[in-house]
Amino acid sequence: MKKTVDPFFTLVFCAALLGLPGVTHAVVKTIELPPDGAVWQPSTLPGYAKVMQNCVACHSAEYAQSQPPTASRAYYDAMVHRMKAVFNAPIDDADMPAIVDYLVKTYGAEKPAGASSK
Ligand code: HEC
Repeated sequence: MKKTVDPFFTLVFCAALLGLPGVTHAVVKTIELPPDGAVWQPSTLPGYAKVMQNCVACHSAEYAQSQPPTASRAYYDAMVHRMKAVFNAPIDDADMPAIVDYLVKTYGAEKPAGASSK
């Protein structure tokens, strides 16, 4: 009786012997992204979601973290307006109070004692 060997089996068998990756098993690729600055501190305050929508396109939370911890509500209000007026940040005026509220309570003067902004 004539012995037939499936050519595909031969290929896989040889590849396995040679240890060729990709033929015998799927190659799993992982991509390591470089660390992307500072993340905005998650919060249940409504302004957090608005910061996610309005601020992350241009920069990380690094700028907010580097503001003085004593920065007042008025300070953040001026800062958010500046983002819009000077850098054309697409921030809806109606969203500004919530954003300022989140910023001052997370990074500024109204931060709860002992809370970390990092
Ligand atoms: C269109 C791009 C853009 C958007 C959107 C944007 N920023 Fe900025 N932001 C900048 C740039 C550019 C600077 C650097 C300003 C400088 O060097 O003077 C900056 C600086 C800052 C600073 C540092 C303090 C200062 O006044 O320079 C803070 C804090 C800040 N941004 C917060 C925010 C927050 C909060 C939002 C969302 C409400 C936001 N940014 C949205 C471009 C943007």
